[in-house]
Amino acid sequence: MQIIGLKLLVTVCFIGSVISHDQPFSKISVHETVFALNDAAYVKASPLVLGLKGQTSEWLTLTLHNPNPSIDDWVGVFSPANFSTPNYKDTGKASMKFRLINQRSDISFALFSGGLSKPKLVAVSNSVTFANPNAPNYPRLAQGKTWNEMTVTWTSGYGIEKAEPFVEWGRKGEEKQRSFAATLTIDRNSLCGAPARTVGWRDPGFIHTGFLQGLWPNSVYTYKLGHKLSNSTIIWSQIRQFKSSPYPGQDSLQRVIIFGDMGKDEADGSNDYNKGRGFLLQNIMLVRV
Ligand SMILES: *[C@@H]1O[C@H](CO)[C@@H](O)[C@H](O)[C@H]1NC(C)=O
Ligand SMILES: *[C@@H]1O[C@H](CO)[C@@H](O)[C@H](O)[C@H]1NC(C)=O
Repeated sequence: MQIIGLKLLVTVCFIGSVISHDQPFSKISVHETVFALNDAAYVKASPLVLGLKGQTSEWLTLTLHNPNPSIDDWVGVFSPANFSTPNYKDTGKASMKFRLINQRSDISFALFSGGLSKPKLVAVSNSVTFANPNAPNYPRLAQGKTWNEMTVTWTSGYGIEKAEPFVEWGRKGEEKQRSFAATLTIDRNSLCGAPARTVGWRDPGFIHTGFLQGLWPNSVYTYKLGHKLSNSTIIWSQIRQFKSSPYPGQDSLQRVIIFGDMGKDEADGSNDYNKGRGFLLQNIMLVRV
């Protein structure tokens, strides 16, 4: 039995077999899928609400039953995956864990039989959701146009008609100020063609960039991202921090990391829709630095 994720992140876990370097998902005949729903079969996902403490990712458990199990059954999921069910072929029962990340939509799972070439949909799970699918997440920092400017870019589900995005920031322990943030997004037609416009497409949400100007050198700054709704309620991110640049020319140690396209891969060892593997180790090293 295998796990396959459909949507942006597609994952396939092979149990007890060797994984080739081609992503197994590229072999699924999605368009050949037929319905074979069985009342006795089920897929259950819990908990129903993820990220209740503001987390952007959380583990979830899936239990399933297929009265007619076979070795090439698989589960479609909208996320990375990790599971191991050695007795599935005999019992038709399995329990697995998935690490789901908040990508602004709810999530469901589907059990397939018939392997990758003749997929038959056997059962579909309940759907689960993050407590706030629209929450501001995943801030990315970049040096601004001048040495004393930092830009913060993040992703949310709030367009400018729904909420006003801003960054609240200041030197650690000192008074904070607020800076406006720009909002951009792309749609399917912004992309050049398949697969980016077709099976590879997923709504990217809204991408916001705030400009923090007039920074003091060598200082630790804290910041949080906010979205002010029309009724004045503010949706906040968690608080983060960064250290500002030294004054140019000042005696200081500078570290530079140069890297190429890192591909795309899942931290839990599963595969995804892309052909070829990403460079996880490189990613881990970058985070460490
Ligand atoms: C403001 O609107 C949001 C979203 O509709 C809602 O969740 C929140 O309870 C509202 N707050 C107040 C104070 O009405
Ligand atoms: C997958 O889950 C098993 C059991 O929980 C664990 O031992 C294993 O390390 C996990 N694999 C990865 C790649 O996280």
